[in-house]
Formats: sequence, structure tokens, C-alpha cells
Amino acid sequence: MQVISSAKELRQHLASAAQGISLAFVPTMGNLHAGHISLVEQAKQQAQFVVVSIFVNPLQFGANEDLSSYPRTLDEDIAKLRLAGVDVVFTPTESEIYPVLQTVTIELPEIANTLCGAIRPGHFRGVATVVLKLFNLVFFGHAPRKIALFGKKDFQQLFIIRQLAQQLNIPIEILAGETMRETDGLAMSSRNAYLKPAQRQEAQRLYRALQQVVQAVQTGRTDFATIETQTGQYLTQLGWIVDYISLRSAASLAPATADDQQLIVLGAARQGRTRLIDNIEFGK
Ligand code: PAJ
Repeated sequence: MQVISSAKELRQHLASAAQGISLAFVPTMGNLHAGHISLVEQAKQQAQFVVVSIFVNPLQFGANEDLSSYPRTLDEDIAKLRLAGVDVVFTPTESEIYPVLQTVTIELPEIANTLCGAIRPGHFRGVATVVLKLFNLVFFGHAPRKIALFGKKDFQQLFIIRQLAQQLNIPIEILAGETMRETDGLAMSSRNAYLKPAQRQEAQRLYRALQQVVQAVQTGRTDFATIETQTGQYLTQLGWIVDYISLRSAASLAPATADDQQLIVLGAARQGRTRLIDNIEFGK
């Protein structure tokens, strides 16, 4: 496994080591857990050559967010990726990705300003911009298959990346990985490390609350707005600060209607300063 931090070296190495073979790419911000590794395993099954990037992307963090405290565990991450059989780990510096102060960014459709985008203005612009830059650094030249993998845990991100690839005619297949969970149901996340023991205990309730929403809809309720409000109030009473609980069409991410058959309930809420997100896709 090669660990490469310069874009030029990455290109040189891939030009010789990955020429003409299928290539899969998993972008990450590091502090790797089993959710990330499951994407790597899926990548290994799909392609002959696997690249993982580790880059805490400043462009997707708001001014008052956790950029400076975001867990950075590069040595452990590299050990995990070596064990998983990754071919190249790309660990660029900030100046390698953003050599100029005023960077070109991507303008996204209105969907990027809803849900997490409403709470974190500019977040998805930062995500889309770095992902496109990473795609351009990793995928060049001919490969019989070009694949990039994203987790369903960040469903809105996956949705936006799919739109990006489709609408900007990017010739890369976007594949999705299922959400990996702790035994009590909490979705794995690098941010779970911020939780104090009592918060960690409480954190499982976000997923449980979303499961209750699924049950309510599956038993025939169509008063979606009421379900969302009630679930938000329930979590608020338990001490959560709720950003949103939202029922949407799984295909379009538009607010759910009674006619939708494939739905998704998405939730974002905070335990203290730790912001957790989760979602469940389901059929009626
Ligand atoms: P990060 O949070 O490190 O996540 C990297 C990838 O792992 C994303 O595709 C995310 O959806 C997936 N992932 C995270 N938790 C998961 C879980 N519990 N189960 C399955 N997959 C999970 O998402 C980002 O980084 C960044 O926004 C990035 C795309 C790298 C752009 O900077």
C-alpha cells in the first residue's frame, strides 16, 4: 500500500500502477470506523484497484463548526486501510487541494439548502467541490470501470453527489453503502467520539425515534407533518436539540406525499454540541 500526499505523485503512481484496470475510490475525512471500512470492502469487491482519500475538508465546515477539533488519527487509519487491502491512500495537505484562497466552487440546486444544508449553509457546496476535485485527481486516463462509493448514512450527501455526477456528465459510477451501526443501533460516525457517557447512552434514541416514524407510516398514518413535529417534540423533551425530523420521497428527497411508495425519514439532532444524523429508507 502506498501512502501519497502530493497530487503529482498520485497521478504518476496511478498512471503506472492502475493503468487500464478497474478503479474504485472511497473519499473520507479519516478517523475511520467500520462504516468506512465497509465501503472499502465493497470497493475491493467491485474493482481491481482501490484508492482511499483522507482529507478533512475545511470548505465544508461552517465558521462555528468542529473543523479544529475533528478527530485526526492518521496512523491508525493507515493501519486499518493496510489491513483492508487498499492500494493507495491519498492524504493531501490543505494547500495541495486549495492552492489559492479564492477557490472555484460548485453551485448546487435548491435541495442543497434544505435539511442539513439549511442548518449548515454552504456545507454541500464544500462537499461537492472537494469531491469533484478528488475525482479529477484520482480518475484520469482509461479504466474499464470507474467507481466511487458513498455511505447512505449521509443520504443527502449521496443524493447530491449522484446529481453532481449525472448532471455534470462525470463518467463515474456512484455506488452506495449501507449504514453500519453500533450494537444499540447508533449509526457509526467519527463524531460519536465527542459524546460523553450519558450522551452516548442517549444517542441511540435518535435511531429508535426514526424507527417509530417508520412504524407510524407503515400502519397507515399520512399526517406526516404531525408525525415529524411529535417526534421532534419527543426528542426535545429528552434533552435533544432537534435540527429536523423529515419524511421525504426516497427518490427525489421532496417532502413526502401520501402517494409516495418509497420513503425516507431523515433526522438530525444534537446531544450537547455533538450533532448526529441518521435516516431510514422504507417502503409503505
Ligand atoms: P466521512 O464522514 O469521513 O465519510 C466518508 C464516507 O463514509 C461517506 O461516504 C459516508 O457516508 C460514509 N460513512 C460514514 N459513516 C458511515 C456508516 N456508519 N456506515 C456506512 N458509511 C458511512 O462524508 C465525508 O467524510 C465527507 O463529506 C467527504 C465525502 C469525504 C467529502 O469531504
